[in-house]
Amino acid sequence: MSNQREQFRSRLGFILAAAGSAVGIGNLVGFPVNAAKSGGAAFLLIYAAFVVVICLPVMMAEMALGRKTQRNPLGAYQAVAGKGSLWRFGGWLALITPFMIAVFYQVLTVWLLGYFIGAVSGNLEAMAAPGYFGEFINANGVFIYLVILTMVVGIILNSGVQNGIERLAKILMPSLFVMLIVLTIFVLTLPNALVGVKYYLVPDFSKINLEVVNLALSQAFFSLSLGMGILITYGSYVSSKESVAGGAKMVAAVDTSVAFFAGLLILPAIFVFNPDTDTAELSSSSVSLVFSFLPKIFLSLQALVGYVGASLFASAFFLLVFFAALTSQVSILQVPISAFQDELKFSRFKSVLALGLCAGLLVIASTVSFGMSSFFTEFVSYAGQTKSFFDVIIDIFYETILPLNGFIICLFVVYKWRRSDFNDEMSIGDEAFDKSLTKKYVNLALGTFVPAILLFVFVSTVLLKFF
Ligand code: PHE
Repeated sequence: MSNQREQFRSRLGFILAAAGSAVGIGNLVGFPVNAAKSGGAAFLLIYAAFVVVICLPVMMAEMALGRKTQRNPLGAYQAVAGKGSLWRFGGWLALITPFMIAVFYQVLTVWLLGYFIGAVSGNLEAMAAPGYFGEFINANGVFIYLVILTMVVGIILNSGVQNGIERLAKILMPSLFVMLIVLTIFVLTLPNALVGVKYYLVPDFSKINLEVVNLALSQAFFSLSLGMGILITYGSYVSSKESVAGGAKMVAAVDTSVAFFAGLLILPAIFVFNPDTDTAELSSSSVSLVFSFLPKIFLSLQALVGYVGASLFASAFFLLVFFAALTSQVSILQVPISAFQDELKFSRFKSVLALGLCAGLLVIASTVSFGMSSFFTEFVSYAGQTKSFFDVIIDIFYETILPLNGFIICLFVVYKWRRSDFNDEMSIGDEAFDKSLTKKYVNLALGTFVPAILLFVFVSTVLLKFF
């Protein structure tokens, strides 16, 4: 069985695919918004520290478990702990979480596709008008974009790990890096950009409090695609010639650099538009920033580069974020696909179809929860607020559950799978690991303070969100 499993063709292919998963809406939009409202470089420093101190060990734990067991998350937990063990619930969580994240991410990716097509077809002016976003998400056109995106994603996944995911990442990721750099350089040459750069890079530590620290950790976790079963699954396609620790460090470095550059692109762009930008406007959610605020900013560029120039800039930006979202979306959908293939022995095609059917219904329910259906729009109430179906998915699977999944994986790897087996796996393809500082650090961290911190974050989020 294991020798039939697909593998990434090369080290570069694996790193680009994993970076493709990591680099997503979280980096390009979530990070700049959070940095803007939480002290700029002060947030950046805390974020980067969490990436190294907390996220990297978890990343290695996930990848090593996947490569050792050659399975999807559910299969991986069961392969180590046995089918009847309670640990299998950890596996189920690591399978259900990505499935549900994929549902809301599909909705966002559909909107990005719609905005890209809108900007390319010269609609920037309409897109920048107040109220456009609300109309756009409630118009039937979103279903057309949904069908297009679903087919594109289905075709990629049906082509497999090597010919679908790896090939896509090899084309899109380099294009994404180039676009990001070109757009950033362009923005930096515009008048007033330096005000934004200063706002971003001069740290304001007075904004730091426990909530911001919590936010930085959740942001880092989401951005690196941790707790979603993705790296367990991708680990299962990594050849034994590769170093897990080296791959994880590369992916974290790429992901953090992209987040950094996204800040350098978005914040100055905002200040070019309006040097006296009211930073309160930045504190709104990432969603309203991308879909309501940024089109306004892009349109304002027409004073400098004309309407065509502004439309080109907007098109390039939405294409950039769309590419990033697409490579993330295929990575997360590969998790349930590999579960169908491993556990139910479905063919790849059958797995893609089965997944499309299950996820498709939930995506439609999410799409209509912005007003088209009152049942899904006013789905439940808790903590004194009415929540839509889409909100509930976000609250549970984006805001809350990832640290819990991270907590479980740490305990599982260290206390059930055992450190020695973990270390043996880490040493495969990496002779230097055994004597490295990385080994000492990761072993200590995974068994002690990392799970403790993750549990703390999970419990405090549950208390804040749901009570
Ligand atoms: N790291 C991704 C991001 O920043 C998170 C993600 C991965 C979300 C895969 C959905 C699917 O956007």
